[in-house]
Order: sequence, then structure tokens, then C-alpha cells
Amino acid sequence: MDVMPMTGGLGAEIFGADVRDSAQFPEIYAAFAKYSVITLRKQSITPKDHLDFARRFGSINVNRFFKPVDGFPQIATVLKEKDQKEAVGEGWHTDHSYDQIPAMGSILHAIEIPPYGGDTLFVSMSAAYEALSDPMRGFLDGLTAVHSSRHAFGLNTINSEASKSGRLGNAEAAKQDASHPVVITHPLSKRRGLFVNPVFTTHIEGLLADESTVILNMIYEHCRQPEFQVRIRWEPGDITMWDNRATWHKAINDYHGFRRLMHRVTVDGVPLSH
Ligand code: SIN
Repeated sequence: MDVMPMTGGLGAEIFGADVRDSAQFPEIYAAFAKYSVITLRKQSITPKDHLDFARRFGSINVNRFFKPVDGFPQIATVLKEKDQKEAVGEGWHTDHSYDQIPAMGSILHAIEIPPYGGDTLFVSMSAAYEALSDPMRGFLDGLTAVHSSRHAFGLNTINSEASKSGRLGNAEAAKQDASHPVVITHPLSKRRGLFVNPVFTTHIEGLLADESTVILNMIYEHCRQPEFQVRIRWEPGDITMWDNRATWHKAINDYHGFRRLMHRVTVDGVPLSH
């Protein structure tokens, strides 16, 4: 297989691989550990192959809120129909950061792709952290922040297009709150990186509300710089896997009038530490 880095910060495309072949897994895993986001082009897989590939990384972390694929409760549907306006995952986020043990990563399989648009953007949270000044890194290093699913998937969202159309559900189960370090040491690479995100992080603990808002907004503005990003342009059959502990991601909603269908499997992680 050929592993081609996509930017100076993160991301690699992999050509000539077959995720069904267990003998190729060590090389795929090494690319994942090195680049945080890997796109395996031109895969021809069934939902069962998707799950088998995910299980090589770890146990499956079943999403509580996304509509599952028929017959495969462990696979989440990420769908926007051509007459819908909202895309799932439009805000910058890290999947399941509201869990006490956040997911290791997610594996997204492109089933149906619009003729243009519908890309996914990723940010390297280590590159963003390393670009902060020494005093700012020192200030953030010892802090913790609270993440929650309540405002994102709870009863306040039941009138959204995504809920009314059945793409998201189970709002009464949105009761997860978790506290994580603002700066984590990555469990695999030991690289330091920011672990707060605009969708699920509610506040930094120990700061006044205004202070927390200002600091989080400063971090978010800093992280959005293109130098820390990679943009994945999809073709049907592609699989992208990302490391949730090392990245943010965002689905770009610029393909109104066309259908986009993806299947997502998420893999369990480990507790995070400073
Ligand atoms: C997600 O946020 O997991 C979905 C990303 C995408 O649809 O591109």
C-alpha cells in the first residue's frame, strides 16, 4: 500500500490497501498512529466488514443518538437527504467527548456522496497546542473542562430537523457529563494536545463564567487556522478513520439538493490524563 501524507500537520491518504485483509492491519494502524486521520481509498466492504475492521482497533462504542443502520445497531447512519438543510456534525467537535472515557476514534464509510461538496475537515489538536505561546500553554496545562451531551442531543433538540426526520433520537438518554483535562497527553503518541471543542465543552472548571467563555473562544479561534487542518474530499467507497483524542472534525454542509449517506463505527478509548 502507498501512504501519502496530505499536509504538514495531519492526515494521510492510503492507496492500494484492503481493510478486509488482517495482514495489512499493522501497516494501517501505524499510519493511523502517525497521521491521526487516514483515508483508505476505494474500499469495497459490507457493514460486517466495516465492523470487523473496527474491532481490530478495539471494542465498538455504540452511539446513543444516531439512527442505526438496519440490522447493525453498532453502525450509526450519518445522512442528509436532498430536501434537508441541516447536516449532522456541522460544528467543530470531537465524538463522544461527553463520555467519562471518550471514544478512541471513528471510522466513516462513504456510501453515497454528492457530486460536489460534503467534504470533512479535521484539525490537529497537538499542532494547535504546540503553536500557543509558552505562558498560554503553562496556563492551560493544569486546567480541566466539563463536556456534556445534554444541550447537543437532549430534549431541547427535539424540534430540530435532524430529530424530526429521525436521523437523531433518544433525546431522553442525553445525560452524559464528563470532566477532562484541557490539555491531554495522547495515550498512543504521548504528544500533548488540546481537548476542548465548541459543540460539547460547556466550561472550564475553576474559572468565572466570563473567563471560561473568553478562554474557550480564544482556543477555538486559534484552532480554526488552516495551518492545523486537513480537508478530506470523498469518493464512494472511501473510508476515513480519525483519532478523537488528537483531532476535531466538521462536516461541511455545502451540497443542498443532493443526498449524502455515510456509515460510522466508533471505537472505545481509554481514560484521558494531563
Ligand atoms: C461526524 O461528525 O462524525 C460526521 C462527519 C461527516 O459526516 O463528515
